[in-house]
Amino acid sequence: MLDLGAGNMDLQNHLPLGCTYIPADIVSRCEGCLVVDLNAGEFPDVEADCVTLLGVLEYLHSPEETLRKARERVGRLIFSYAAYWHGRTDYRRGMGWVNDFRRADLEAMLARLGWRIDVVQNLKLRWRTREYLIACSLT
Ligand SMILES: C[S@@+](CC[C@H](N)C(=O)[O-])C[C@H]1O[C@@H](n2cnc3c(N)ncnc32)[C@H](O)[C@@H]1O
Repeated sequence: MLDLGAGNMDLQNHLPLGCTYIPADIVSRCEGCLVVDLNAGEFPDVEADCVTLLGVLEYLHSPEETLRKARERVGRLIFSYAAYWHGRTDYRRGMGWVNDFRRADLEAMLARLGWRIDVVQNLKLRWRTREYLIACSLT
């Protein structure tokens, strides 16, 4: 499991025995953490069955490029994203989020890239945000 933008690596505590966890982030989070700047077009050169991007795409100037690279290398994708819902976007910039995709934009992007959406789960409904967890596999 390749966890891009691993942060505190909470995901590691929820994986089944035998699943290898590979954290990657823009700064090293632990010994062995891969350092990668997704905004510089980098992508870890490792083999993985699944890539996760949990709360990370919001910080990327070209998330489509990261999802394209993931599609070329990995067969499964799980990501969460706080989708733009309505109103002003300044609160998103305040969070450090640099893009404003709606759910339909995400779905169109995934279809363009050849990711099939298998599951969409609503995580949080906020004032101007809808946060989704989306699992994809190859079309
Ligand atoms: C909101 S945190 C989410 C952390 C973790 N995935 C979680 O769900 O708890 C966003 C993470 O993305 C990482 N990140 C932001 N921009 C990045 C970039 N350009 N390249 C790689 N990681 C990045 C941050 O360092 C941070 O760890």
